[in-house]
Amino acid sequence: MSALETLECLPRLNLRGFVSPVQRLERFSDAIGVEIWCKRDDIGSVGLAGNKVRKLEVELAHALACGATHLVAEGSRLSNATRAVAAASAALGLKCTLLLCHDEPHEPVGNLMLDGLFGADLRFVGDMSWTDLARHSVDVVSELERSGERVYRLPIGCASERSCLGFALAYDELRQQMREHGRTVGTIVHASSSGGTHAGLVLGNALHGFESEIRGIVVAEDVYPDVPGAYLSFARGGARLIDAEVELTRDHINVTQAYLGEGYGLPADGIYEAIDLLATKEGLLVDPVYSGKAIAAIIDLAAKGELNGPVVFWHTGGYHALFDPRYAKRIWSALDRLADIVL
Ligand SMILES: Cc1ncc(COP(=O)(O)O)c(C=O)c1O
Repeated sequence: MSALETLECLPRLNLRGFVSPVQRLERFSDAIGVEIWCKRDDIGSVGLAGNKVRKLEVELAHALACGATHLVAEGSRLSNATRAVAAASAALGLKCTLLLCHDEPHEPVGNLMLDGLFGADLRFVGDMSWTDLARHSVDVVSELERSGERVYRLPIGCASERSCLGFALAYDELRQQMREHGRTVGTIVHASSSGGTHAGLVLGNALHGFESEIRGIVVAEDVYPDVPGAYLSFARGGARLIDAEVELTRDHINVTQAYLGEGYGLPADGIYEAIDLLATKEGLLVDPVYSGKAIAAIIDLAAKGELNGPVVFWHTGGYHALFDPRYAKRIWSALDRLADIVL
């Protein structure tokens, strides 16, 4: 069996319910002068969708095969990953404990509210590095196991060697969809932090002879001591799980922090204009934490002539962050046409 066939046969759950569409962004493309498509992983599926669901389809199939009764995940209070785990736990009838760190008190809005609504047990652990959070989470797993639970732990961002295979499959899915439209995949641009999305897309691309360029727009600072190294190890680990004989090196990890701006969830050059352009040209929403920074990157790279088309913007979800009052206020005051409206 080829590695691609092994990948196709991988045990996985169906949490998305349907194949997310890919659509051409005609008016946005005209505005920036490059052919742009959008892979709509922001819509459908369990618990407000987003990129984590693809990872969970693979990871949780494994968790169920291991007999898990309880999922433990970690992240920030506003994490899309923990929200997706909480939703998937509800959908699968599993218990869920979330370890949530934070650097400032936060109103119960957005993902924090949804985590609670999906029935997860929420534990607030204060301000903590990713490394300390992971250690703490391992302790919580032991505690739950002592009380008789069969626990499956998901690392930050649900990023792992196994979960990235969800995105290797996704690459294949996109490739086929673009072929149906008579197009190839020149470049994929996506928001990146824990790295599972990037690693999986890179592996998927490798299985097709590196035909596309995969560009990760990093939206959080120093998520690992060696970001490309961590991403590469996910991709290599994923390759091992499907017996793929592909040579993956650091050169295949194409990530940049150039669009991070002031930091995770904080303003960056062109971010509000990017959100505005996509909304007014396409009626599509992106948030200021993740996908908005990927769109800002697309606009900038297009202006510099650095994008090989057709370009696919991989919409990784999270646009409900727009309803967080902190972000809504910043957007409103940053855009003249909104700031001029007298409320
Ligand atoms: C909306 C959204 N986009 C992109 C990402 C980055 O994906 P990854 O963690 O796989 O790098 C995340 C991760 O939290 C996310 O929530």
